Amino acid sequence: MKTFYITTPIYYPSGNPHIGHCYTTVACDSIARYKRMQGYDVMFLTGTDEHGQKIEQKAKEEGLQPKEYVDGIVANFKRLWEYMGIKYDRYIRTTDSYHIESVQKIFKRLYDKGYIYKGEYSGKYCTPDESFWTESQLVNGKCPECGREVIDAKEEAYFFKMSLFAERLEKLLTETDFLQPKTRASELVNNFIRPGLEDLCVSRTTFSWGVPVDFDPGHVVYVWIDALSNYITALGFENSAYDDFHKYWACDVHMVAKDIMRFHALIWPAVLMALELPLPKHLAVHGWIVFDGVKMSKSLGNVVDPFILGGRYGADALRYHILREMALGADYSFSNEGMLRRINADLANDLGNLTSRTVAMADKYFKGALISERKEEAIDDELVGMINALRGKVDEFIDETRLNNALEEIFKVISRANKYIDETEPWVLAKNPDNNARLASVIYNLLEVLRVASTLLYPFMPSVMPLIWEQIGLSLDDATYENAGKFGVLPENVQVKKGAVLFPRIDVDKELLELNNLLKDDVQSL
Ligand code: ME8
Repeated sequence: MKTFYITTPIYYPSGNPHIGHCYTTVACDSIARYKRMQGYDVMFLTGTDEHGQKIEQKAKEEGLQPKEYVDGIVANFKRLWEYMGIKYDRYIRTTDSYHIESVQKIFKRLYDKGYIYKGEYSGKYCTPDESFWTESQLVNGKCPECGREVIDAKEEAYFFKMSLFAERLEKLLTETDFLQPKTRASELVNNFIRPGLEDLCVSRTTFSWGVPVDFDPGHVVYVWIDALSNYITALGFENSAYDDFHKYWACDVHMVAKDIMRFHALIWPAVLMALELPLPKHLAVHGWIVFDGVKMSKSLGNVVDPFILGGRYGADALRYHILREMALGADYSFSNEGMLRRINADLANDLGNLTSRTVAMADKYFKGALISERKEEAIDDELVGMINALRGKVDEFIDETRLNNALEEIFKVISRANKYIDETEPWVLAKNPDNNARLASVIYNLLEVLRVASTLLYPFMPSVMPLIWEQIGLSLDDATYENAGKFGVLPENVQVKKGAVLFPRIDVDKELLELNNLLKDDVQSL
């Protein structure tokens, strides 16, 4: 069986998850579900990056031990993923003992091979906060945390020889299809590789909440080696917790947003080169969900709570909305109004109406079960052609991680089907029993659009699509990827079943007012 390995970043549990974290996780979940439907043996990994100074400080502010603090936030991440219908295969926490054991071994291996050496880290130091900062992190020349004076200081630290890998990294970015979209390669090459890759500081002595360097007490492994290694430790690399490394590595897709592209496009491949391991096949980089032009983030107080939005419109509508709006290579400016209008236009109107109108017509004109006679006409050809071609187009967009385009293609067919109703005028056909065979053909074609569209939409909206299957008389056994590639799977005398409204229409003005009040309360309570 072919395997498929996909990962989200491991998120910092320094605050609760917001809709930005949701985007990457929902996108990976949809791809993982699609690949499972295609018959792949899928490993979908997500998790949390729980070490470091920031977490240590947060815990202190709350009067908790770091582990106690992250346990609480991690529970919220997991609760949100369940709520959003995320079906991950494995969840890694960097505080898991098997991960710590592996990171120590990886660090030692790199050291033994001569890729890690001991040197001196110099930077700006804030004595009261015991924190090092780089020049660019300072705010008006002062500590960005507390605003006090900083001093020039040095500390002993280990460094990773990034510079050795410059040539191979440049080739990886410019001559292979590793980076998606490849247009981002030039910023990495011009800003980081060409000016000369600096060796990377990979240990610290000024905080203790991290993986200890076992051969040099006092040092802890500094963020990136610890965090990036999760993608292989979670499979059992250098530990005995799992035995999946040979099965799933090399990774098919690491998905990240542009904020951490550099770490995944330069540092991670360099570490893998040093370990002499195969490189990931793709790094898919998406933009940010921004709010009034600023990246959504907990510290800016502009988070949009996915629990609130999902609770009001359903997790599937929220999943659809964010996936449909984010275009590869661009940021998406989130607005409540945009979200409500999108849900109404695509889900309540286009998909919801197509389902309710089609099922209602089959119910009214044929008492629920179509007759077997058919009469095809030339006007059907375009619609049937679109149904037959749809799966191939969606496959391609999924492989390019262009999920918004995949959804767009599916909704083109749904819109076309709504127009087909207006063109064929079933209510006119129904007036004369001589037209019954024609009427059955028209309704059958519409049911087939719904079957193919809802099967292909299932990975994106896994809780609502089965409700469509029930209404259009599609058995679970027939809701398959294979069947989604062809026209004519529903039985000739298919039996429909009227059901509840799939996506209730939202009164936008009224809802906007309520939502603004709710979100205001929510932001104030952070
Ligand atoms: O960077 N829009 O964790 P993190 C879109 N621990 N995506 C967003 C987003 C937004 N406004 N905000 C966050 C870290 N994300 C490290 C990663 S990986 C080895 C270590 C998503 O909690 C997006 O995927 O800051 C982004 O790359 C990630 O969350 C950053 O999560």
